[in-house]
Amino acid sequence: MLISRPRRNRKSAAIRDLVQETTLSVNDFIFPMFVMEGSGIKSEIKSMPNIYRFSIDTLLEEIKEVSDLGIKSICLFPNYPEAKKDKYATESHNSETLYLKALSEIKDKFPHIALMTDVAMDPYSSDGHDGLVENGEILNDETLDILGKMALAQARAGADIIGPSDMMDGRIGYIREILDDEGFTNVSIMSYSVKYASAFYGPFRDALDSAPKFGDKKTYQMNPANVREALIEGQLDVAEGADFLMVKPAFSYLDVIKTMADNFDLPIAAYNVSGEYAMIKAAAQNGWLDGDKAMLEMLLSIKRAGAKIILSYFAKEFAILKNH
Ligand code: PBG
Repeated sequence: MLISRPRRNRKSAAIRDLVQETTLSVNDFIFPMFVMEGSGIKSEIKSMPNIYRFSIDTLLEEIKEVSDLGIKSICLFPNYPEAKKDKYATESHNSETLYLKALSEIKDKFPHIALMTDVAMDPYSSDGHDGLVENGEILNDETLDILGKMALAQARAGADIIGPSDMMDGRIGYIREILDDEGFTNVSIMSYSVKYASAFYGPFRDALDSAPKFGDKKTYQMNPANVREALIEGQLDVAEGADFLMVKPAFSYLDVIKTMADNFDLPIAAYNVSGEYAMIKAAAQNGWLDGDKAMLEMLLSIKRAGAKIILSYFAKEFAILKNH
């Protein structure tokens, strides 16, 4: 005789809903978006179907749409032409620059949106690296100075959350101090605490035209084989004043998300990166996977692993599904 029958808790949709442990909400998402120069532009990224680079005018229209769907947080990344890039990422803290202009226009039109930024040199660097390059090496402490200027310029433009994605040592504390000294004590920092040197960033680098001109990012981004190092990064970021800790990528690193959630009390975010998005889109376009179902399962697994916040290119599609 079978006493325990786990299937009883799966026998109807109503009971399955009662016992469901993890749920997704639009509140969990930050939608990454791309801005470029020009006007009237909506240019699809080839390796990311349904994701676009917008000029500021069309970006504002898109944010209106996204906001009407219930999404309250976005993260903006810029695409700059090669001509605007240099060794020192000078354009990143030029007060007239496209990115800062976009931030202040967004904040002006959508004050209720939580606006997250990206702090790293790669969109503006002629070397395509996140830090300053000298003789083939990425210099840590010299990079901090540039990141500090970038973060401060973004705070001035109206950023709510600064997102250092560069993986230099000490940058959270360095940026926190500059923000506080300048009176931006209420500007948050979401640290890309645990960011791996991953193959899954490929489509994003297409979107930004930001692939490294030489070498790889392995001297600053983490080795995908390691998880203990994640705790070291997390401890430092907590001590340096981070408000959120992020794991990136998400789907191949669910154990890392769980480790971070088990060890830290700050909210854990996970970045469901471009390559994870591209995989599902490509398979769905081929008829090999049900795109919506695969998306929901991927997002749910990231939340189940311990991420409270998910940065995802699926955010808008998720919100549309939820609204119907
Ligand atoms: C670089 C940066 C990257 C992403 C966000 N910021 C790529 C990289 O480190 O080369 C990747 C995001 C994605 O793949 O969706 N500072």
